[in-house]
Amino acid sequence: MAYKKRYDGRGFKETRETKATANILKRADGSGEFSFGNSKAIVSVYGPKRVYPAFLEDADKALLRCYYDMISFSVKERKRPGPSRRSSEISLVSAGALKPALLLNEFPHTVIDVFIMITQADASTRVAGINAATIALANAGIPMTDLPAAVSIGKMGDTLVVDVNKEEEDYEEDGKHAATDIAICVLPRTKKISLLQLDGKITPEELKKVINMAFRAAPEINKKQIEALKNVEEL
Ligand code: CDP
Repeated sequence: MAYKKRYDGRGFKETRETKATANILKRADGSGEFSFGNSKAIVSVYGPKRVYPAFLEDADKALLRCYYDMISFSVKERKRPGPSRRSSEISLVSAGALKPALLLNEFPHTVIDVFIMITQADASTRVAGINAATIALANAGIPMTDLPAAVSIGKMGDTLVVDVNKEEEDYEEDGKHAATDIAICVLPRTKKISLLQLDGKITPEELKKVINMAFRAAPEINKKQIEALKNVEEL
């Protein structure tokens, strides 16, 4: 059985509705919100600021620390508050996805903290979080060489789709889980990939298509991020 029509009626290369806002929190140095349909992330950025304990500081560049977490009510079954293996992993890969675009060497001896909070989860939250973090970092005035755009690509049976929701992530064929979920962050200007995580199976040919789909989805994501940054409202 092939996945011929998406559960929510979208085209295979179509993302869910995306929304983006910059400067949503008064106390943060920068903040932003990004959503793919019902997956929503808010991000606050603090810094560049002094590093405590000081031995952690880098004389050449700012440290970038990301903290990803999901609010307890963001998922159907209450999520236990506090960090987990999953949140530690996503925090680490989110920092890795953002770092290549940031001019961290302009802020030696400092740290930039990025708090990524998922308020509502319907799969693809790490990529929503990275897109929100891009907005928040730009809103904080951190100079960038590129605007990271992250999206998930899924393979349901043999069908490749852009922006996987939870129902698709749980796709089954003959009673068996048959979905592959790939999180990708691209740097469109320099044509680099700063995140590629694959959960499932895929052929090399399919992976090439997946990467192309991510690059093709990027302009629309960047457009929303830029619009948000241009339309900042004073708090
Ligand atoms: O969210 P993302 O796709 O980046 O990461 P995941 O670990 O593949 O999680 C996929 C989805 O599973 C999340 O977006 C949530 O919708 C759901 N999930 C959940 O319901 N409860 C958890 N404790 C973790 C994830």
